[in-house]
Amino acid sequence: MANPLLRKKSIDKILADAEAGLHDGHGMLNKVLGVKDLTLMGIAAVIGAGIFSSIGKACFDGGPGVIFLYIFTAIACGFAALCYAEFASTVPVSGSAYTYSYVAFGEIFAWIIGWDLLMEYAIGNIAVAISWSDYFTGLLDKAGIHIPSWLTMDYTTAHAGFDEATGLLSSGQALASIDPAMSNKYDAWLHAPQLFGMHVIMDLPALMIVALITYIVFIGIQESKSASNIMVIIKLAVIFLVIVLGAYYVQPQNWSPFTPNGISGILKGVSAVFFAYIGFDAISTTAEECKNPQRDLPRGMIYSLIICTILYVLLALVLTGMVHYTTLNVGDPLALIFEARGLKWISGIVGVSAIIATASVLLIFQLGQPRIWMSMSRDGLLPKIFSRLHPVYKTPSFSTILTGCVVAIPALFLNLDVVLALTSIGTLFAFVLVCGGVLVLQKRKKQAASKFKVPYVNGKLIVPAVFIISVALVVLYAPAHFVNIFSKEGFPMLLFWIVALLVSIFSFKHSFSLIPVLGLISCFYLMAQESHTNWLRFLIWLAVGLIVYFSYGIRKSKLALNTV
Ligand code: ALA
Repeated sequence: MANPLLRKKSIDKILADAEAGLHDGHGMLNKVLGVKDLTLMGIAAVIGAGIFSSIGKACFDGGPGVIFLYIFTAIACGFAALCYAEFASTVPVSGSAYTYSYVAFGEIFAWIIGWDLLMEYAIGNIAVAISWSDYFTGLLDKAGIHIPSWLTMDYTTAHAGFDEATGLLSSGQALASIDPAMSNKYDAWLHAPQLFGMHVIMDLPALMIVALITYIVFIGIQESKSASNIMVIIKLAVIFLVIVLGAYYVQPQNWSPFTPNGISGILKGVSAVFFAYIGFDAISTTAEECKNPQRDLPRGMIYSLIICTILYVLLALVLTGMVHYTTLNVGDPLALIFEARGLKWISGIVGVSAIIATASVLLIFQLGQPRIWMSMSRDGLLPKIFSRLHPVYKTPSFSTILTGCVVAIPALFLNLDVVLALTSIGTLFAFVLVCGGVLVLQKRKKQAASKFKVPYVNGKLIVPAVFIISVALVVLYAPAHFVNIFSKEGFPMLLFWIVALLVSIFSFKHSFSLIPVLGLISCFYLMAQESHTNWLRFLIWLAVGLIVYFSYGIRKSKLALNTV
C-alpha cells in the first residue's frame, strides 16, 4: 500500500467486521431502536445546557437579532446533518464520524477525528455536568438545602470570584451588597479546606450525576432508551409551556432595536449557540442498536434538528420579547423571565426541567463515547479491551466505565467556559470532515448502496460565484478585514479564506455537490469565529492525539497487520 497513513477501510469490510462481532466474542449489541426513539434521542442530546443556560449570554450579546445566529447555525448543522445521514445510511456502524472518515480519507484522518470526537462527547459532557450541577445546587438553595459552596464549583471560578469580591470589599462595598453569585464564589474560596497550602475546591454534584448516568448506560441500551424518552417528554412539555405562556407576556417594544450590537454582537454567541445544537449527530453512534439504521438514522437526525431549530428560534424571541435583552446575562434565563413577572411557580418548574434536560444530554453522550472507542478498538487503533461487551448487558463495559471516569474526574475541577468552547470547535471540525467525506464518497464510482443520499446540485459555478461575491462585498464594505486577518487574532479567519478559496477551485474542477460544500464552508466559518487561544488549545489537543497514534495505532491497526 502506497501510504500507510492513508490506508482506507472499505465499506464492505467495515460492515462485515461489525457483523462478525469482532468485539471479543460476546455477541452483538441489542437492536431495539426505531425512528421515534432516534428522534427522541436526538432531541435528548440537543436540548440541554445550551438552551437552559448559555442562551442568556448569547441574547445579552446579540440582542433579539441572535435569532439570525440560531437560524444560520441551524442551516450549517442542517447541511452537516444531511451528510451525516448519507454516511449513516451507507456505513451503519457505531463509529459515527470516525468510521466515516476511515472510509473517505483513510486511517490517519479517522484517528484524528476519533480523537477529536473525545472533545465533543467527553469534554462536552464535562460542560454539561458542570451546568447540571449549577442548576441543581441553585434549586437546592431555593429549597433551603445548602451544600458547602467549595463543594459546588471549580478552583478557577472560586479564585476569580474571590479576587473580584476582595477588590469590591476593599473599595468600601459591603459584603451583603455584592452579587450573590460572586459572594458564593468568595465564600467557597474562604471556607475551602486546604491541603499542602492548596484550596480544596471541587464540583461534587457534577461527579455524582456522571456516576449515576454512567450506571444507567452500563446496564443497557433498553434502560437508556426508556430513561431518555421520559426525560425528553418532560423537557419538551416545559419548553412548550415557556413558549406559549411567554408569548402572552411578550412586549414587542423589547425587540426594538432588533440588532442593538450589530453583527459582531451576534457573532459573540457562536460557541454558545452552536453548543446548543450539538447532539443530533450523536445518535449515529447507536447505528448497531437500530432495527433499520439505513432508513431510520437519517430521519431521526433530520427530524430532531428541525424540531429543535423551531423551538430555539421561538425561545429566543420569547426571551428577548419578555424582558430587555440587557437583563439576560444570567445562567438561568428561562427561570429569570418568569421570576421577573412574579410567576415563581413557573421558574421552579423550569429549574426542575433544566436538571432533567441536561441529564438527558449527559446520557446520550455517555452512550456515544464508548461506542466510538469500541469501533476504534475493532480497527486495532485502541486496545482490544475497549470493544469488549458485557456478557449480560451487551454494552461496551470497559469503555463505558472509562468514559465515566474521563468525564467525572475533570468535571470536579474544570471551568465551564473553557470546556464549552473546546467542545464547539471540536464538534465543528468533525462536521467539516464529514461534509468533506461526502464529497469524496460521491466522487467514488464504487460505493455501497446507500438508502439516503444528499441531493446533488452541481456546485461548479455556484460555489466560485458565491466566493467571488463574498470577497467583493468584504472589500467594498469592510476592507480592513483583509488586513486584520494577518494578525495573530485574525489567523482563524485567514485559514477560513484559504479553505474557501481551495474549495471553490475544487468545486469548479470537480463539479462538487453543493450541499456538502455549503456544510463544509459554513461549519468552517463558525469554527473561524472561535478565538485564536481556543484554536491553539484545539491544535495542541490534535498534536497530542497524533503522538498517541504514532506510538500505538499505526503499528497495531488491523489494516497494518493485514498488509505486513
Ligand atoms: N446541545 C447540548 C446542550 O445544549 C450539548 O447541552
